[in-house]
Amino acid sequence: DFMREITGLSVLEKQLQDKLHIENVMIVPGDSDQHDWVKKEMGKACISFLGSRFSTNQTIAVTGGTTMAAVADEMTPFEHTSHLFVPARGGIGEKVENQANTIVSKMAVKAKGDYRLLYVPDPLSETSYQTMIKEPSIIEVLQIIKDSDVILHGIGEAITMAKRRKTEESVVQHLEANQAVSEAFGYYFNENGDVVHKVRTIGIHLDDLASIGCVVTIAGGGTKGKAISSYFRQGKSNVLITDEVAAEQILREN
Ligand code: BG6
Repeated sequence: DFMREITGLSVLEKQLQDKLHIENVMIVPGDSDQHDWVKKEMGKACISFLGSRFSTNQTIAVTGGTTMAAVADEMTPFEHTSHLFVPARGGIGEKVENQANTIVSKMAVKAKGDYRLLYVPDPLSETSYQTMIKEPSIIEVLQIIKDSDVILHGIGEAITMAKRRKTEESVVQHLEANQAVSEAFGYYFNENGDVVHKVRTIGIHLDDLASIGCVVTIAGGGTKGKAISSYFRQGKSNVLITDEVAAEQILREN
């Protein structure tokens, strides 16, 4: 619209689309690290995208984080559609308000949709993991998750996320030694988008993204430019919703 034209945001959107080879980019003004309302604007952009793109009921998998929590805060009912919301993965060490389960239930209630949750303790040892994935109730929800039509996910700066999740010091050292710069779905990536570490939990794995119709990435803020670029080196996404400051940084990256 007119405001986007005069503020130059639509020019930035086109540039990012070309640089990241992505179908659709939506940029909101400002810096979400500085102002919470910018995160809320990204949330609104995400909801308007979902409303315009889908006229039938979808299964929507959602990750955790403060950005996803802002999407849930802004959620409103959709016209003629009642979506099913599920967490993308089990617990990955977040505080309860930032956990996917919490966010999913809130989104579903506000969207007048439905939800299914995944109760998986974390961190998960290899033996418990092997046992849990054989539980019938877990198998059922996992199948719904793997068959999702849409996924909404955030991206974090690697070390920030590792510390926020109270990750063991040996793992933090491993991330530093391997120059991890970004994190998404519990996977940590280096500058080239190679996976350098992954949190053991159940749910969507990176390989599953290829079969999911629409992957929506929502991440912004001055501290995330490098992280976003790193994820887009290899990660699948159809839509990026970000803010102006992150967009300018991504464009400056090589
Ligand atoms: C979550 C993802 O959605 O968002 C994480 O599961 C990501 O992988 C995190 O790092 C980012 O959190 P925040 O609070 O910066 O939105």
